[in-house]
Amino acid sequence: MSDFFSSGWSYWITAIALGGVAFCLWLLFTQRSFLGKSPDMTDTGHEWDGITEYNYPVPTWWTIMYLGLCVVGLAIMFLYPALGTNPGKLGFTSTAQANQERDNRLEKLKPIYAKFDGQSIEQLAANPDARALGERLFLNNCAQCHGSDAKGAPNFPNLTDNDWLWGGEPETILQTITEGRHGMMAPLGAVVKPEEAVQIANYVRSLSGLSHDATLAPLGQVKFNQICVACHGADAKGNQMLGAPNLTDSIWLNSSSREVIVKTILEGRSGVMPAQKNNLTPEQIKMLAAYVWGLSNNKK
Ligand code: HEC
Ligand code: HEC
Repeated sequence: MSDFFSSGWSYWITAIALGGVAFCLWLLFTQRSFLGKSPDMTDTGHEWDGITEYNYPVPTWWTIMYLGLCVVGLAIMFLYPALGTNPGKLGFTSTAQANQERDNRLEKLKPIYAKFDGQSIEQLAANPDARALGERLFLNNCAQCHGSDAKGAPNFPNLTDNDWLWGGEPETILQTITEGRHGMMAPLGAVVKPEEAVQIANYVRSLSGLSHDATLAPLGQVKFNQICVACHGADAKGNQMLGAPNLTDSIWLNSSSREVIVKTILEGRSGVMPAQKNNLTPEQIKMLAAYVWGLSNNKK
């Protein structure tokens, strides 16, 4: 497949590559003393501290080495993808090479995972060897977003608290990691005025017992029941089919501050958990699901 948007670039690159070799050959030809051309050993007239410079032709060994380099260069261009979009005689691609290296690596890992064959996620979570493996996988693939202690950060959920956006059953966690998740709260600025958003934010804070303005909250409740219950539920306890968080507990994906809640209402939220099925093997994903499930289910 070509990355060029016009075939003209392919010709352009081919011309530069072949032109480079042709230029070297022409240069050598003009300096061809070893073919019998008598060297023109004139004094160039340059002089530094009494040392003068002669115009000697390049030595023969050097010319031969250079010719050899031109041959090697042309051979590489013929065998490998070097001339524009031409794939080269060997059909080499760096993608195929990377895949091959990955397959070799996975082949080496197979015996390590074979030990855990047939174990359920709960069994793996109780197995210290599997947990250690899961932890290493987590540090390499997940910690950049969820933190090395898996406690998350604003917009990146805490995975240790047994409070779940999408569900905490072993199979659900497996599904989350394999396929990824996209939590979408559309911006509601078009239907909610900023002062109404403040009222709603006061109501939302009242749901989890946080300080709030007691005259604004009931006004916010009316709006909440019209707009928000569709996703967050009539009891505001969230909906794991949509990844809509429970708004009645003390666990916050973003922040419980009034300003952040108002911003969420007016501007929406979009949280993406990237699918891992193309990065990791099913065995690795199962190990991670066990590790994550164990973080809040293993009794210490
Ligand atoms: C279309 C479904 C939908 C509607 C309607 C909706 N939400 Fe959300 N809401 C979500 C989802 C999904 C998230 C999680 C977003 C994410 O993953 O980052 C969310 C997140 C939030 C958060 C962040 C919670 C936290 O723990 O930090 C607040 C607060 C919130 N919504 C309040 C509201 C309010 C108030 C309304 C009504 C004005 C509302 N939502 C309407 C789906 C919805
Ligand atoms: C690029 C950042 C990123 C990486 C890397 C990442 N995650 Fe996530 N993950 C998220 C976000 C953001 C969410 C929340 C999605 C939402 O808002 O609904 C999430 C959600 C989750 C959930 C669901 C939590 C719940 O409450 O239901 C699990 C489980 C999870 N991640 C596990 C993992 C594992 C295991 C890895 C490593 C393989 C990983 N994540 C890598 C960003 C990431």
